[in-house]
Amino acid sequence: MLKEIHETPRVIEDTLATHLRDSALGTMNLDLDVPRPAEVLMVACGTSFHAALVGKYVIEELAGVPVRVNLASEFNYAATPLSRGTLVVGITQSGETADTLSALRKARAAGCATLAITNVLGSIVTRLADRVIYMRAGPEICVAATKTFTAQLITLYLLALHFSDMELAEKQKMFKELRRLPMAVQRVLDVEDKIKRISERIASYENVFFIGRGISFPVALEGALKLKEISYIHAEGYAAGELKHGPFALLTEKTPVVAIVARDRTYDTMLGNIKEVKARNAPVVAVADEDDDEIEKYVDFVIRTPHVEAIFSAVTNSVALQLLAYYAARKRGCEIDKPRNLAKSVTVE
Ligand code: AGP
Repeated sequence: MLKEIHETPRVIEDTLATHLRDSALGTMNLDLDVPRPAEVLMVACGTSFHAALVGKYVIEELAGVPVRVNLASEFNYAATPLSRGTLVVGITQSGETADTLSALRKARAAGCATLAITNVLGSIVTRLADRVIYMRAGPEICVAATKTFTAQLITLYLLALHFSDMELAEKQKMFKELRRLPMAVQRVLDVEDKIKRISERIASYENVFFIGRGISFPVALEGALKLKEISYIHAEGYAAGELKHGPFALLTEKTPVVAIVARDRTYDTMLGNIKEVKARNAPVVAVADEDDDEIEKYVDFVIRTPHVEAIFSAVTNSVALQLLAYYAARKRGCEIDKPRNLAKSVTVE
């Protein structure tokens, strides 16, 4: 897992090199003759579902196209209305996840155009969907998805820019920011020792909450999934505003809360949420921008991530959370690469 996390900067470079033709002209190599759709519906499971939730935020923000995200396992049994103008996007690293394949079959049967985002050449999904975008993450052996999650995010940023009718200058700025991400992720990896020290504290708890708002909400969900699957610590991801609708009852000095704090329009409300958590005596670890000099006053520990445009913070912050999970699991002596009861691809519904 650690090796695969460390491959992330190269994975981002390869994914961009494959799909970005000319940043100056704002052109891409995405094999997509689909016009800007009236609506996007994404189907996926697990970590890929969390990437889809980030994708919803990004596509709506950058392209203004409405996006619905469904768990593939639920979509197959729901009476979700589908119209022919809907582009259905199946996100699956392995290309073999049974629920995601069934969801795409259902979408095709309803006459929708389908697009698969996958990492595996020749996988079942590539034969099923009308269009395919390959991520360039290389083989991922560890059961926990890490570098492929990041590759999914990069692909979704590109898809959003493909659908967007923003001015060329604005698009060029976005491409420039994307090109800075390998270096930004490398800087997260460079502070690994600090993340490790904080993780070793987290390792002694049995329950951890992860909270975020906006784009950081799915990052929180993914942080919790990563921690629970490899360290066996019970972890829950929550939209920060939802804590007071129930989970507050669980907060004590024994339930640390990891707060993912982006420097965007959610910032002030997020600080308010952190204060509420602290008032319940829960220890707080913030994952925050290096330029944020407010946050330290309100939390117990800060994991600093390099400054990037807030919309791209999902990349840097989720890599920090992957390291947090990894070192917590290592401290607990878990078998990280093959967690109990889990398989790399889930081929039954
Ligand atoms: C994530 O760490 C897990 N391995 C799991 O949630 C995974 O993302 C899920 O099974 C979906 O897999 P897929 O991307 O291959 O479809």
